[in-house]
Amino acid sequence: MAKKVLRIISSPRGAASLSIQLGNAIVEKIKVAYPASIIKEINLANDPLPHLDGVTISSFFTPAEHLTPEQLAAITYSDKAIAALQEADIIVVDAPMYNFTITSTLKSFLDHIVRRGVTFQATENGIEGLLKNKKVYLAFSASGNYAEGPGQSLDFVIPLLKSIFGWLGMTDVTVFRAEGFRMSGITEADALQKGIDSIVIA
Ligand SMILES: Cc1cc2nc3c(=O)[nH]c(=O)nc-3n(C[C@H](O)[C@H](O)[C@H](O)COP(=O)(O)O)c2cc1C
Repeated sequence: MAKKVLRIISSPRGAASLSIQLGNAIVEKIKVAYPASIIKEINLANDPLPHLDGVTISSFFTPAEHLTPEQLAAITYSDKAIAALQEADIIVVDAPMYNFTITSTLKSFLDHIVRRGVTFQATENGIEGLLKNKKVYLAFSASGNYAEGPGQSLDFVIPLLKSIFGWLGMTDVTVFRAEGFRMSGITEADALQKGIDSIVIA
């Protein structure tokens, strides 16, 4: 069965990027598992979403029929990003580690997609995410090793992404890793290959 796949890139390093190469390999394996899948790409390095400003935040909390022209323009980024997520069956997020967390471009994207009443709602039973029945794959890259050992507590990439996606209803998150090439004897190519070899599309 064909799937609609949304790919989100945030490394600015193009072909040299490990997260992009790992993400490419994930997409290729999705295409094998689900031939004729349609891939849509958001490249945040090329087209970053603006940081939230006062007008954008006020637009999130204003009923659609009362939005000013300025708010309507500001909310377009959020509406477009959310629409891309809503229509996707599978989301592949390239997630390079910058200073122990995600890139600022990916953070800005997340700030635009978390909207009460649109992507999550508060119910009597707690928070309900409204982006349901989606599979998320993370293509994580870092020079250090965060999968195990002391590095684990310094990883603010995967816990953050799992928390935000989970909040929005996307609880089925699988992580593939190209990491640990800061250590002697492990090259970037080794780390990448290990990550690619670990990819299983379920
Ligand atoms: C600005 C910057 C900050 C980084 N911070 C970390 C870090 O905190 N921990 C780490 O292990 N690697 C860090 N790195 C290394 C990158 O995570 C690593 O090079 C990774 O492959 C980058 O992703 P990319 O190859 O997809 O561009 C940093 C790299 C850059 C450019």
